[in-house]
Amino acid sequence: MDKVRIGIIGLGNIGRYHAGYLSDGKIDRCELTAVCDAFAKATKPYAAQGLKTFADGEEFIRSGEVDAVIVATPHFQHTTLGIAALQAGVHAMIEKPISAHKADAERLIAESEKHSNVVFAGMFQMRSEPRYQKLKKMIDNEELGTLLRINWIDTDWFRSDAYYSSSAWRATWKGEGGGVTLNQCLHQLDTLSWLVGMPSRIRGFAQLGRYHQIEVEDNVTAYLEFPDGATGTFVSSTGEIPGTNRLEIVGTRGKAVLEHDKLTFIRNEVASDEWNRTSTTGFGQPDQWTIDIPFGNAEMPHAAYIQNFVDAILDDTPLHVPGAEGINSIELANAITYSSIIDQTIELPMDSKAWEEKLNELAENSTLEKKIVEAKKEDFTKSFRR
Ligand SMILES: NC(=O)c1ccc[n+]([C@@H]2O[C@H](COP(=O)([O-])OP(=O)(O)OC[C@H]3O[C@@H](n4cnc5c(N)ncnc54)[C@H](O)[C@@H]3O)[C@@H](O)[C@H]2O)c1
Repeated sequence: MDKVRIGIIGLGNIGRYHAGYLSDGKIDRCELTAVCDAFAKATKPYAAQGLKTFADGEEFIRSGEVDAVIVATPHFQHTTLGIAALQAGVHAMIEKPISAHKADAERLIAESEKHSNVVFAGMFQMRSEPRYQKLKKMIDNEELGTLLRINWIDTDWFRSDAYYSSSAWRATWKGEGGGVTLNQCLHQLDTLSWLVGMPSRIRGFAQLGRYHQIEVEDNVTAYLEFPDGATGTFVSSTGEIPGTNRLEIVGTRGKAVLEHDKLTFIRNEVASDEWNRTSTTGFGQPDQWTIDIPFGNAEMPHAAYIQNFVDAILDDTPLHVPGAEGINSIELANAITYSSIIDQTIELPMDSKAWEEKLNELAENSTLEKKIVEAKKEDFTKSFRR
């Protein structure tokens, strides 16, 4: 194969966005040949462009029309369609979250392990942003020293009631499997786990439908504890205007702060633990230097991830984010919500079956009656956050 025939399943906000740059020929050695959506209206414009169109994802996967698919449907179908693709030998790029809950992610990953020749990737394009790349480099080069604390206030996710009532699956236990943690701020949870690793304990406080007529969480605060004793907090909400996006990572050698498009490193001349042991004064502190770290913005990060996916298929190029890494953000999201619902601290790795059972119970007992109102058309790319 010297050119990948790619297809998209799910032509909503993000599926149409992927279709746009693929149709514009932005990806080398790749051609958008077919698309699929359960609703005929969504595929009509693509049929008019001469693309093959399908209404059933599994039929589409088995059709022989595509070598690879982007799965951009609501969350629960990520697992079923992802598994169907892997079983059919069709390379799969799964939109975030890779599944609706951890037990489903385990099923998807277990299937991928049976098909080592089929590429399985996750769309976690936020990691490619230069600001996070710089932070990652600083952490990996131990410029921050030993991690002491990570705080992320990530409340810059305001959504209106019109957003939630625009489609049936959104913000329901049955259709989405969670709220702000599993959808809006999942990229930040993924980036957090990539930067500093997974915590070993989580205590979450999740308010369900605090700001909106929804049944899932739209306001959360979580306390995180890491295996070596470092601690953290993660705060997110879809109900605040104006929101905040402030990330602080504190290590023994200093503190990195990312806010308002500015990355600052406050460096300790002497590491805090060493100063603690050796200082002869009670109140003194080592000298600190403030360094502004410049960075740019990633150009079309989604497209760059699809190019990497294509390169992985054709040349065995390592993936930016192997699909299996997608389980970490799901585990963080699930643990925050589950911890709050059962009012207990959760030890990680969490019991995925226990959350799946609770989620099924929440879905079965749902009394939410959603009235669907088509939202006014607007520029969806404005919702991309850094
Ligand atoms: N990576 C990113 O930056 C990013 C941005 C937005 C959304 N997403 C993710 O993409 C996914 C879709 O989100 P969205 O906002 O585009 O949703 P959406 O509701 O706008 O679109 C979903 C589309 O999937 C179709 N669909 C539903 N079930 C289907 C099935 N079984 N087979 C085929 N088509 C089906 C629907 O008809 C709809 O057109 C979600 O998982 C979301 O988290 C990722």
